[in-house]
Amino acid sequence: MSNVRDYYDANTWKWLVSGTAGALHRELWGPGTSDRNDAVHYVHRRVLDRVTELCPSGRARVVDFGCGVGAGAVYLAEHIAADVHGISLSPRQVAHAERRARQRQSALAGTCRFYEADFCRLPWPVVERVAGADLVYAIESFVHADSASAFFDQVAQVLRPGGLLVLVDDVLTSSGVQADGHPAIAEFQTGWQVGSLLSAPRAVELAAASGLALVSRTSLSGYMRLGRPRDRVVTALQPVLRHGQRYSHWCRSLVGGDALQRCHRAGLLDYDELVLVRT
Ligand SMILES: C[S@@+](CC[C@H](N)C(=O)[O-])C[C@H]1O[C@@H](n2cnc3c(N)ncnc32)[C@H](O)[C@@H]1O
Repeated sequence: MSNVRDYYDANTWKWLVSGTAGALHRELWGPGTSDRNDAVHYVHRRVLDRVTELCPSGRARVVDFGCGVGAGAVYLAEHIAADVHGISLSPRQVAHAERRARQRQSALAGTCRFYEADFCRLPWPVVERVAGADLVYAIESFVHADSASAFFDQVAQVLRPGGLLVLVDDVLTSSGVQADGHPAIAEFQTGWQVGSLLSAPRAVELAAASGLALVSRTSLSGYMRLGRPRDRVVTALQPVLRHGQRYSHWCRSLVGGDALQRCHRAGLLDYDELVLVRT
C-alpha cells in the first residue's frame, strides 16, 4: 500500500492546481449539470440523494472510503446534518481535508473528521469511531484496494444492517475480461496503481461473500467526457511521459490516465455505480 500512499502524497497538489474543485475524480456531465462545478459534484449529489432517502432527517453517519482531500465529505456536511468520516492512506490528503473542513466550518450543517488509515485494514480506534454507519461511499478508490475481499469485509464491519455502500469506479466489461493482459489495461493498472480491477459481476460476487447484496447497478460511462483538449495534449506527449514514468509519479499517472481513456473508447472498461445493502 505504500506505493499508493506515495503516489497520492506526490501527486495531490498537482491535481489541485489543475483545478478540480478539490475533487480527485472525473467530471460527470449527468442530468442537471451545466458547468464544471456541477459535473465535479454530480457523483456527490447521487450519494447525497441516497443518504437523504435512507435518513430523511439528514442525521446520518457516513464514511468516505478513500476521501481524497475531503471534497465529497465537505459537500455532504454542507448539505445535511450528517457526521461524515473520511479515510485516506495519504497523510497529505488528510491534512488538506482537515484544512478544507476548517475553512468551510461556518457553512457546515454537519461535521467532518478525517483519518489516515488503510481502508482494507482499519485500526480499531477508527472502526470504533465509524461503526454503525448508515452509508459508506467509495469514489474511484476501490480500484486501489490490494484485496477486494478485505475492502468489502471492512465496509460490512462498519455498516449497520440495512446500511448502504455506494461504490463508483472503473470495472471491466465482458470484452475487458476477455482481453485480460491487453496493453492498455496493463498500462492503466500500472500507471494508476490499480490493485482491484474486476468486472461488476465479480465485484458483486465478492461483496456478497462479505454480506453485501446488490441493490442497483448504473453505468455512468455516458456522462464522462473523453478526449478533452487537455487529454489530447497528454496523448501527444505520451512518448516523453512513458520515458519519464520510471522517475516520476506524475508521468506515471498521465500515462495511466491516457490508457484509461483508450480502454473506455475500446469498450474494455465501464464506469459504474454499484449500490449494495448490508444484509
Ligand atoms: C482517485 S482518489 C479519489 C478521492 C476522492 N474519492 C475523490 O473522489 O475526490 C483515490 C483515493 O483513495 C485513497 N485510497 C486508495 N487506497 C486506499 C487505501 N487502501 N486506504 C485508504 N485510502 C485509500 C487515496 O488515498 C485517495 O484519497
